[in-house]
Amino acid sequence: MFRSRTCGELTIKNVGEIVTLAGWVQTIRKFGAITFIDLRDRYGITQILFGENLNNQLEENSLGREFVLQVNGTVTERSNKNKNIATGEIEVTVNNFTILNKSETPPFTIQDETDGGDDLRMKYRYLDLRRNAVKKNIELRYAVNRSARNYLHENGFIDIETPFLIKSTPEGARDFVVPSRMNVGQFYALPQSPQTFKQLLMVSGYDKYYQIVKCFRDEDLRADRQPEFTQIDCEMSFVEQEDILNMFEGLIKSIFKEVKNIDYTSVVERMTWQEAMWQYGNDKPDIRFGMQLCNLKFPAHSFPEKNNISDLIAADLAVFNDAETVVAIAVPDCSEFTRKQTDELTEWVKRPQIGMKGLVFIKCNTDGTFKSSVDKFYSEEKLKAIAQAANAKAGDLILILAGQEERTRKAISELRLEMGKRLGYRKEDEFKLLWVVDFPLFEYAEEENRWVARHHPFTSPKPSDIETMIHNNPAIENAADYLKHPYANIKANAYDMVLNGNEIGGGSIRIYQKELQQKMFAALGMNEEEQQHKFGFLLGAFEFGAPPHGGIAFGFDRLCSILGGSESIRDFIAFPKNNSGRDVMLDAPSSIDTKQLNELQIKLTPKEIN
Ligand code: AMO
Repeated sequence: MFRSRTCGELTIKNVGEIVTLAGWVQTIRKFGAITFIDLRDRYGITQILFGENLNNQLEENSLGREFVLQVNGTVTERSNKNKNIATGEIEVTVNNFTILNKSETPPFTIQDETDGGDDLRMKYRYLDLRRNAVKKNIELRYAVNRSARNYLHENGFIDIETPFLIKSTPEGARDFVVPSRMNVGQFYALPQSPQTFKQLLMVSGYDKYYQIVKCFRDEDLRADRQPEFTQIDCEMSFVEQEDILNMFEGLIKSIFKEVKNIDYTSVVERMTWQEAMWQYGNDKPDIRFGMQLCNLKFPAHSFPEKNNISDLIAADLAVFNDAETVVAIAVPDCSEFTRKQTDELTEWVKRPQIGMKGLVFIKCNTDGTFKSSVDKFYSEEKLKAIAQAANAKAGDLILILAGQEERTRKAISELRLEMGKRLGYRKEDEFKLLWVVDFPLFEYAEEENRWVARHHPFTSPKPSDIETMIHNNPAIENAADYLKHPYANIKANAYDMVLNGNEIGGGSIRIYQKELQQKMFAALGMNEEEQQHKFGFLLGAFEFGAPPHGGIAFGFDRLCSILGGSESIRDFIAFPKNNSGRDVMLDAPSSIDTKQLNELQIKLTPKEIN
């Protein structure tokens, strides 16, 4: 027997027991002829005491960090107790030991606070994974996985695998492709999601499907995006949007309970896409805090139902007059910001990622007076009226951005999040869910001057908008005015689940009639031949009794990282890629040898070879 106990379980109750432990040497401390080591395994750390009697043997077999060691000894009470760890009251006094394997000195310390930088830790990810901080994340991931499976199983879902070597599934990213040796000159695509397969399973009658599945997307990477990531992918038949929202709210609440012991009893709020854009400038708002936008000026066609209050800011002020959109937030209790602080914020909004030309501010002083960067243009009375519109109270700092609609809305949303973070409103142990519903069905692709599906081409329009879709020509005559095209206002039967300002899931009620699906493809600019070539299998299946269906997929890595209080999903993936899509441990991607290329009949052009 290699071990009788683990390094995480012995306590004062075990004193006197003879045990065998096996693990890695975390630290070695020598006091004359006595040596202490901390022995670590997956379960914890136990202090091991080598008495004088073993000193010679230890000298002959010098131990180093990360050596693999087996010790047999007696559990004894420690004189110097460590209340911070579970095993801190005992140590194991060694009778005999075996070095099971040696180790090179690790390139960074295997501790919670490590001295290893990102790249180094990724290169030696197998060592990084030994660190408690990473292990906790991997364990959390497993707990979320198990909890999701339990819930879905209990609710009658079955896990069905779908293939990885497939034909393109459009989810808005580029495909990764795999050349076929047996079909020279032809390529498989790796699935961006199992979207069409889960729909085919509905046609086949498997009315509750799920899969915790890898998806592959060749897109620009960020902290919350990996080229291969995992979804909790689900689909149901004979359901309406309400059924899906209820079922999957249940899933997330059950994960909260099982993994974090949080009773999320409150109702999950719902917001239309348009309201989210209006109030937060963002379709995945963090609703843990207020600071909603005050829309001082905006293009009428973007928010046809809202009243324009641009009179409030009427003045001889070019930054506002020339702007399509002027929007403000009232930042609580910051009216005493110094010049240096407002300058810093101005620089912050001018950074290329935010892209604004400047920042206007109004200080709502606690004595009821106002001071602004635009005092020349507005009377105290006017500033007060703006402050009222922005719901600002005495002591607040109003920040105003002006410019082109989309950019300005995005910028104010970023600024709101930044101020929320600086003021401590974005607590990682507070969780707030939100459904965003009624997304636009289409998005305008400027480069191609055509409509693309905002979610994916299988999402159904709201029944009340089907007529608009069928009876209007999708062609966009005047690109600058695309927002005025009837298609811009067609709403989708689509929904996203947002957690603390992150999109953790998205789905829709699908099109299930062949004719409507063809109309949809046509609206996206696909002629019949193209439709057959790309989606003949789906259109074919829809001829054989496709049931009404809908579903959702959750970003599993994202969900884990938020539950674990981290911004980076990489921390929750055992072997992640870096921001250039590389696995620095494997050194992948890499070139392949000529034999492999020849078998595939692929010839690289000189530019690609170097
Ligand atoms: P969608 O494309 O919205 O929907 O993806 C679902 C969820 O997956 C997560 N996600 C990602 N996570 C990490 N890295 C990525 N590159 C990445 N891309 C997406 C997000 C997102 O909410 N087939 C549809 C689902 C459906 O309609 O049922 C789909 O894939 O959290």
